[in-house]
Amino acid sequence: MKRRRFLAATAGTGLAAGTPLSGRLLKPHRPGLPMPLRSAAPLPRPYQVPLPIPAVLRPVRSDATTDHYEITQQVAHLRILPGLETEAWTYDGSYPGPTLVSRSGRRTVVTHRNELPQPVAVHLHGGHTPHDSDGHPTDLILPVGWSRRHRYAMADTSGLARTALGERTYTYPLDQRAATLWYHDHRMGFTGPSAYRGLAGFHLVHDDEEERLPLPRGERDIPLMITDRSFTADGSFHYPAVDPEWGMPGVTHHWMEGVLGDTILVNGAPWPVLDVRRQRYRLRLLNAANSRILRLELDPQPPGGDALVQIGADGGLLERPVRHDALAMAPAERFDVVVDFARYRPGTRVRLVNRLGSGTTAEVMRFDVSGAARAPVDDTAVPDRLSTVERLDPRRAMAVRTFYFRRTAAGWTINGMPYRPGRALAAPKLGTTELWRIVSDFHHPIHVHLNPFQVVARDGGAPGRYDAGWKDTVDVLPGKSAEIAVRFTDYSGRFLFHCHNLEHEDMAMMADFVTR
Ligand code: C2O
Ligand code: CU
Ligand code: CU
Repeated sequence: MKRRRFLAATAGTGLAAGTPLSGRLLKPHRPGLPMPLRSAAPLPRPYQVPLPIPAVLRPVRSDATTDHYEITQQVAHLRILPGLETEAWTYDGSYPGPTLVSRSGRRTVVTHRNELPQPVAVHLHGGHTPHDSDGHPTDLILPVGWSRRHRYAMADTSGLARTALGERTYTYPLDQRAATLWYHDHRMGFTGPSAYRGLAGFHLVHDDEEERLPLPRGERDIPLMITDRSFTADGSFHYPAVDPEWGMPGVTHHWMEGVLGDTILVNGAPWPVLDVRRQRYRLRLLNAANSRILRLELDPQPPGGDALVQIGADGGLLERPVRHDALAMAPAERFDVVVDFARYRPGTRVRLVNRLGSGTTAEVMRFDVSGAARAPVDDTAVPDRLSTVERLDPRRAMAVRTFYFRRTAAGWTINGMPYRPGRALAAPKLGTTELWRIVSDFHHPIHVHLNPFQVVARDGGAPGRYDAGWKDTVDVLPGKSAEIAVRFTDYSGRFLFHCHNLEHEDMAMMADFVTR
């Protein structure tokens, strides 16, 4: 029998009645926005279920330098929509997977066992990780019970792949700043469908510097994984794969630009609600959608605006907080923000909305502010100075490279080339900084493995309002360019950079680089 676990107990999704969409949500789709893939299953009304918080994974053992973890990748049947079961691919039976919490500089070792029916590869996104543990898309874990002679789609013939049978142990030195990282599947050609089925989770890194700041913590430090999904009539995830048998990668023609679902999930629950006190909360926002770009706002805005006080980006704390009314977030980007709910009157219901959505995808989640007349004492604060961010100097770059991210007759390509394992498009020297100029024909959120970068220019001008701090993913807009400075510090070997629109990635908008 398959191991079954239900999120219902923790997520409380059982509370949702099978009510159809409210009239408001059925308002016509805004013209000009791409239509999402429509669910055949009836969707619940928004704001019926509490926000689930993924459980923190406990180490199986710890010693002076290292924490050891074990995760089993397995099929699980989740209760996401009322009255229906969704068969998911999960890390340890839950979606999102369990949250790993590490200390900067302490080694984290994770053994993944693959009880799924297909090969997987695990990448720690944002991790500064040696190549043999980076989850390169061809370094697969074949399912338990397969043999090395098993035939499967997109086997790497470069001779560089290192496949493991059943299990693989990843070692993360985590010699890096406190930051919100996440782990997800990265199998060549099939990251889109694998992540869509549930293979994603948070991995938080803490350090002393962050801990000395008076930021909200504990129950008021909340990871929010935002995704979109569509469902078939029986509650299964609906992914428009060109070959549902996983014989070849890619999606049907209509979804070439990226799959868009009509249901927004936060931490795996549709349009959930979080009860908050009138205090500051730290929200670690992650856009984990396959291809959906978000523009998040609180509605209503508090008096005076600037509700979203950004304290961190992909690579950890900013030097100084940046105040926003709205946040533009492309897939894989993280924004760490503090929201002070004391700025709202008791009992206010504050929706987190997506201004780039329409109908069901314009709603994300809701914060229900406590009705208590007096706000509890809040001893947290957002200091004016958070950290030190050394500026990389682009004039010192040892190499300047230009990468064109474009759709061609060969599909989604970088410099005209679809991904081929072993063909490196750059060979940066460790200890040097490089300037990469990225030119785009579409929205391409570009992600570089191994080292974080700084956005130093957009279209030859200043960086944008969302570019502060250390980044590992930058959204380059259609017909635009961005310049990033990357310092390659240590770990030689084969790494990856790619578009993080997972459909573009699977359809080959990816390349190796080799550090030396
Ligand atoms: Cu989040 Cu190479 O990926
Ligand atoms: Cu990555
Ligand atoms: Cu892309």
